[in-house]
Amino acid sequence: EKVPLSLKVNGKKYKLSVEPRTTLLDLLRENLNLTGTKKGCDYGQCGACTVHVDGQRVNSCLSFAVMHDGQEITTIEGLADGDKLHPMQEAFVKHDGFQCGYCTPGQIMSAVACVREGHAGSEAEIREYMSGNICRCGAYTNIVAAIQDVKS
Ligand code: FES
Repeated sequence: EKVPLSLKVNGKKYKLSVEPRTTLLDLLRENLNLTGTKKGCDYGQCGACTVHVDGQRVNSCLSFAVMHDGQEITTIEGLADGDKLHPMQEAFVKHDGFQCGYCTPGQIMSAVACVREGHAGSEAEIREYMSGNICRCGAYTNIVAAIQDVKS
């Protein structure tokens, strides 16, 4: 049986009716068509599904959508300001912080949280904070460089 759910996603209010077992990830991708958030492992191991919930980063595959009634979600689609990329998006482009790009939305959402929460003080601190975001292409050095650029 479906349950009612109110959410704000990227500044837009939604009133939905969802199955209790629907994950936040599936809700975003399948109900709201926000496919920028990626499904890598679907069990909390890769970080491809990272979004912000009330400003905190969350692996959306591990979270049921109904747990977020009344909360505010930001996805990669919500970072840019119109045509103007977010500074972290600019930095990933500038530093080639990706190869295939599949993990990039999750990397960028974590990277924004990393700087915002004050965990970008050193390379070691950045690598520790970002350790839940896996990049199979191994673009880690450039990802760290992008984060350091935004932080400074
Ligand atoms: Fe959520 Fe991998 S898809 S952590």
